[in-house]
Amino acid sequence: MKWIKYGVGGLAILIAGFLVLVRLYVGAVNTPIGDYEFSSTALENQIQLPEGFTLGVYGAQIPNARMLRFSRAGDLLVANPNLGQILILARDADGDGRADGTSVLIAGLNGPNGLDFFEEYLYIAETDAIGRVPFDHERGELAGDYERLVTGLPGGGNHWKKTLRFGPDGLMYVTFGSSCNVCIESDERRATMLTYQPDGTDERIFARGLRNSAGFDWSPDDGHLYATDNGRDMLGDDYPPCELNKVVQGAHYGWPFANGNKDADPDLGEDHPELVQNSEAPVHGFRPHNAPLGMEFVRGDGFPEQYRGAAIVALHGSWNRSDKDGYKVVSLHWDSQGNVQERDFVTGFLNNDEVIGRPAEVTQGPDGAFYISDDYAGVVYRVAYGEAQPSLAGIGDSGAIFDRAQTLAAYTGQDWASLNERGQQLYDQFDCASCHASGQSSMKELLGLGDRYDVPLLMQFLSKPRDPMPLFPLTDEDREALAVYLIDTNG
Ligand code: HEC
Repeated sequence: MKWIKYGVGGLAILIAGFLVLVRLYVGAVNTPIGDYEFSSTALENQIQLPEGFTLGVYGAQIPNARMLRFSRAGDLLVANPNLGQILILARDADGDGRADGTSVLIAGLNGPNGLDFFEEYLYIAETDAIGRVPFDHERGELAGDYERLVTGLPGGGNHWKKTLRFGPDGLMYVTFGSSCNVCIESDERRATMLTYQPDGTDERIFARGLRNSAGFDWSPDDGHLYATDNGRDMLGDDYPPCELNKVVQGAHYGWPFANGNKDADPDLGEDHPELVQNSEAPVHGFRPHNAPLGMEFVRGDGFPEQYRGAAIVALHGSWNRSDKDGYKVVSLHWDSQGNVQERDFVTGFLNNDEVIGRPAEVTQGPDGAFYISDDYAGVVYRVAYGEAQPSLAGIGDSGAIFDRAQTLAAYTGQDWASLNERGQQLYDQFDCASCHASGQSSMKELLGLGDRYDVPLLMQFLSKPRDPMPLFPLTDEDREALAVYLIDTNG
């Protein structure tokens, strides 16, 4: 959507309309999905960092960018759970502060989010499975077939994205978020952290009561495992806190019985006083509804002394709050007594209630800089210390994953004409325009599809559309025709 053509008033109406839609559609999923147009000018004017730090855009036009993981050779993998893909951002060999290209590493997965490398494999946590695929670090390519090691895991529901990391002990740690805001789960593995052997055997619940621990890491200082956790919703603007927990084996971190420091939950806590009493208090409380997601400790000496031993945490921001809050990246600093102090690190994604970005995940690169994914603007930022970064101007215009002309070149003459015609018929038959017509009443304008989809990927989307788009009864031929038609007509 080109905001420019509607002027400033139109922009405000569109943003307001979009936010209302976001709330209506995805309140349950807790993650806005939509067609926000990234603005390098807004970024340049608004973003604030501590003295000496700079922010660049490492990759743009990466819708739904979530979990980040660097390969040993410096390529950056980005999970796009809603699109079912893992992207690979080629290492910045020319040193201009931007990835040297984006491509799809693997597609057709079911809500992939957690990513880690172990031995010769790339491990991926899908919403209902854990799989691995041999990976060639030097070439930045898959080196074999994807194999699901664990299947039938409880997925879906509110917190369906799983996080996966290998611990220093060589075990695979995976967090399963809760299916609901607050409830007794029917599958006891939900709202826990589990461990597995690298081959997927020996599943064990490591810790419980973790409502949605989307980020965790081991402190390089003391070796302890720390995890973020999102406090529950629907108890007002200022309760309960979101949490940073020091996770130890066998402990229970409260949900759904206790919030914060052994505070009985008004819905489920009163009947379970012993569980409330035995729950572990967080080591740090984030402001309510700030939604801390990714976290990683600062390693190496690329950052100033005061960041030694600190953790960087992405606060995705509130939806269950009347005034927006969060929408920033913070650093956590431990004092000698173990108290944690939270300081702003990257701010300015929220300006007078207007959101220009939602930090989701963080990871430190081989260059010592921190990389931050933003699933709202569709961007991966790079935050470095003591270093100039490339200008942000014009970034929103580049970074296409696919070449539309090339996609369409595979379809020529009669072939193209008949597919196009069939595609248009189907588009009319299913009244796709009722949601996708252009203009202000559109639920979702279809734009720039050729930059983000080729035909197989768009066919895949149509066979598994994201809420609230309905699934239509289409054959493979129908889907191919629609894909060609859509890429042709919607750029
Ligand atoms: C009830 C409304 C509705 C109908 C009808 C509908 N869609 Fe959608 N569609 C949506 C919404 C909302 C999204 C955005 C989902 C998201 O952002 O994750 C979407 C997303 C898409 C996308 C992906 C857009 C992108 O930018 O990634 C495509 C392609 C698409 N729809 C095609 C179609 C086609 C083809 C039809 C008809 C066969 C159709 N839709 C019918 C609501 C609808």
